[in-house]
Amino acid sequence: MKSQPFLLTDHTAERLIASAILAPSSHNTQPWKFVVRDGGIDMFADRTRAMTQNDPAHRELVMSCGCALYNLRVAAAWMGLETRIDCAKDWRDDGWLARATFEQAQSRSAEADLCTAIYARHTYRKQFAATPVSDAVVDALVAAAHEEHAKLHVLTTDQQREAVAALISQGDSEQWADPEWRRELANWLNPKRKGDGLPIAVFTAPITQFAVRSIDMGGRVAARDRDAMYESPLLTVLATARDDVSSWLHAGQALERMLLTAQTNGVQASFLNQPIQVATLRPKLREIAGAHGVPQMLIRWGVPLEQISATPRRAVETVMTSRQASV
Ligand SMILES: Cc1cc2nc3c(=O)[nH]c(=O)nc-3n(C[C@H](O)[C@H](O)[C@H](O)COP(=O)(O)O)c2cc1C
Repeated sequence: MKSQPFLLTDHTAERLIASAILAPSSHNTQPWKFVVRDGGIDMFADRTRAMTQNDPAHRELVMSCGCALYNLRVAAAWMGLETRIDCAKDWRDDGWLARATFEQAQSRSAEADLCTAIYARHTYRKQFAATPVSDAVVDALVAAAHEEHAKLHVLTTDQQREAVAALISQGDSEQWADPEWRRELANWLNPKRKGDGLPIAVFTAPITQFAVRSIDMGGRVAARDRDAMYESPLLTVLATARDDVSSWLHAGQALERMLLTAQTNGVQASFLNQPIQVATLRPKLREIAGAHGVPQMLIRWGVPLEQISATPRRAVETVMTSRQASV
């Protein structure tokens, strides 16, 4: 029997979008907009929130939207809905990235089980417990990436860690030496921001927004990032076959699928993306990981030692518009 389209009311759409916006986003920029129309939801990139120094191609921006799209799918599955996603292949002037439409699901999807993880997941930048991440969880992460058309490479050898540590140091040095890059970071660390941006605690040591803007702390940050990398029980590189809008959307959905899968298994993650953000280092990371495709995220995983508080989000009304005629 063919399923009937399920036309969302504004109220149901708002509930789905409220789950979508709990997704991680680069520097907590939350670079998304949602339009409810004809019973479905269109997602757009909000390029006014782009980080032009850190992410000139808007790659991380699109990945962040991909994370939100995955949350939307999981929340819909929890409501007994099956989601169909049509994705952009390339940039459109209006920033349109995807349209989600829905049907009543014939049976309960396993993705519904990930829904509570949407609320519990946080980026964990602190030291992890010494406990290893089990092979079963690693396999589940690899499978999650694969389901979303991406590939997770696990870095297993000491040589790989050494080589990645060198890239992280170099990336930190190059980024922090650039005053424009520091100014942009400081802008998203601004304590006056409400509902978005990074908490100053991401630096784990007392530091001020002024210091971030004014001082090249590349050496100090590199040492901290190197330590974080070495003590992480699991280190991985997420890669995609190509490096375009559609691949970034897949990478974002893969990332969030992995993060929610990890969360349901008591594992959290944070990111050491300098060797991807600094363009000259990306091919080197690819070689170290033995990746055929293009690296999109360098991720450290482990069992958290403490609870992390949630980062702020903008109110759902500020990112959602309804253009429903009559649903
Ligand atoms: C595409 C992408 C790139 C990110 N890059 C970094 C990064 O390089 N370093 C980092 O500490 N966090 C990074 N993050 C994590 C965000 O800072 C984090 O998601 C945001 O502050 C919201 O916090 P939450 O994940 O705890 O909800 C990234 C997240 C995404 C989705």
